[in-house]
Amino acid sequence: MENNQYQKTMAGYSGEEGDLIPILQGIQTDLGYISEEAVRGVSHFLKVSESQVYGVASFYSQFRFNPPGRNSVKVCLGTACHVRGGQILIDQVERELGILPGQTTADMRYDLQRVACLGCCALAPVVAINDDIYSRMTVVLLKKTLSEYE
Ligand code: FES
Repeated sequence: MENNQYQKTMAGYSGEEGDLIPILQGIQTDLGYISEEAVRGVSHFLKVSESQVYGVASFYSQFRFNPPGRNSVKVCLGTACHVRGGQILIDQVERELGILPGQTTADMRYDLQRVACLGCCALAPVVAINDDIYSRMTVVLLKKTLSEYE
């Protein structure tokens, strides 16, 4: 199933090195992340090493290497949010969930991402969980809010 999906994405490309980013974008759109199997497939298709594929993909924060959790937690670390405690919030989420940005909890309940701006800087610090935006977030409120997402 997964194999078919990324093979289908690659089928639209000629196999040039410059195809790497668009192929990775296509795989991420289809699978929700870049799996190890996909990295191997892309490496083989483009005739570049797996570490080159990882190297390029990990340079861009848009790519993730873990399957998304049921709930996607995005902590904003843009300038406005950073100066108003965004880092404290992300530290709290890391401790609470036991994961780092880009990772997913073992029970697949949450994944965590840091983002550059959620577009509502006047309400910083901001955290998004799935499509819900939480403004003027605090550590105490964040803990309670997280628990409401199954
Ligand atoms: S910097 Fe956080 S919403 Fe803009």
